[in-house]
Amino acid sequence: METYRRAGILHRVVRRTAATRPMAKIYGVIQQPLDRLVSRLTGGAATASSWLAGVEIAMLTTTGARTGKPRTLPVLDLADGEDTIVIASNFGRPRNPSWCHNLRANPRATLVADGIAREVVARELSGPERERDYRRGEEVFPGFTRYRRWASPRRIPVFRLEPQTTAWALGDCARVADEVLAPLGRELAAACAVTAGRRVLDVGAGAGNAAIPAAQAGATVVACDPTPELMHAGRRAAAARGVELEWVEAGAEALPFEDDSFDVVMSCVGAIFAPDHRAAAGELLRVCRPGGTIGMINWTPDGWSAEFFDVFAPYAPPRPPQALPAVAWGGEGHLRELFGDRVDSLRLERATLRVDRFDSPADLCAYYKANFGPTVAVYGGLAGDRDRIAALDRDFLAFATRTNRGGADGPAVYDFEYLRVVARKAAQLP
Ligand SMILES: C[S@@+](CC[C@H](N)C(=O)[O-])C[C@H]1O[C@@H](n2cnc3c(N)ncnc32)[C@H](O)[C@@H]1O
Repeated sequence: METYRRAGILHRVVRRTAATRPMAKIYGVIQQPLDRLVSRLTGGAATASSWLAGVEIAMLTTTGARTGKPRTLPVLDLADGEDTIVIASNFGRPRNPSWCHNLRANPRATLVADGIAREVVARELSGPERERDYRRGEEVFPGFTRYRRWASPRRIPVFRLEPQTTAWALGDCARVADEVLAPLGRELAAACAVTAGRRVLDVGAGAGNAAIPAAQAGATVVACDPTPELMHAGRRAAAARGVELEWVEAGAEALPFEDDSFDVVMSCVGAIFAPDHRAAAGELLRVCRPGGTIGMINWTPDGWSAEFFDVFAPYAPPRPPQALPAVAWGGEGHLRELFGDRVDSLRLERATLRVDRFDSPADLCAYYKANFGPTVAVYGGLAGDRDRIAALDRDFLAFATRTNRGGADGPAVYDFEYLRVVARKAAQLP
């Protein structure tokens, strides 16, 4: 973040004028709508404040304290390592801004900065820590010094937004992959016709559910995933099966590989979790060679997994309104639009994975609560709130009972619907 002393002349002038009473009044009214407008027009790359004042603005989505609905507002983003400091100055006005009440009622939020969405937990600061972080704000924007005075006797709240441990690192997702999803990984590697000598990239590889079978087929495989904990488990599993792969920490929206560098780029319910679908699709295509294969297994928007995620959504941190759900990747129309004419053949088939390893719906719920990271994260986020935990337990069990296809005395049976995608990258891109 550019401090005031280092800022260019225009940025200094704007920051100074925003700290005068008449301009603070005007900015107080126009800043948010203007920032939102420019952010929309530039696809999140800039805001009016970043252009005019050289400050970084992030979009913060909180849960409305009264409405319970997601509410997105631009905030001055004072990055400090992995954390972000936000100061509820409200231009020195006598009241706290709405997002401050929202964070106090529900500290879990989503922050989008530089087009990257992160789930965060807000911690309100006090004592010397608050003073230290307030000063950091003053170094960037001297108006904060005046706002302190103008706001008095209101004491301006300061929050640290700390990234949540990625949900996928919680519980034991490698176990879920091994015990529930394993057939999908093998199926994907086969659908992509992975054979010896091929150079294969598995995106959102987790513990190597598709990558390890590809390596067993003799391919040279790179497994990439943003969750290192899962890749550690993958390394151990690969060693146990006598194969070697390269493991790289990366998300689907920014793959650290050269253009056209793989014969096959595949993802088994992995890349679908990248919040920016367009960026992820662009990356899968970019790193695949012309004529190469892109294969995916994607949960469908009306299948079991979509309903599963819907159960947890009301109890999870709010998502930015423009963020598309992962299961949208399983819709044929959405997928055709994402790949467009950058592929010259596209085979889409719906199929189901039958899961009959659970004795009962209650057994499935207990297993997911203990092992499936996103489920563990949602329960953890309820921070011991007994009523909400009980309500989620009821909703989860009702869902598991309603979607059980098994008989009364047999094991529970679930059909997980997915879309199998096999595309060939166009030999010449348009
Ligand atoms: C359901 S698991 C699937 C893992 C593995 N492909 C399998 O079949 O077992 C989802 C995976 O998506 C990964 N993931 C989450 N966000 C991602 C992103 N932005 N880009 C790529 N992968 C992501 C998670 O770390 C996790 O490993």
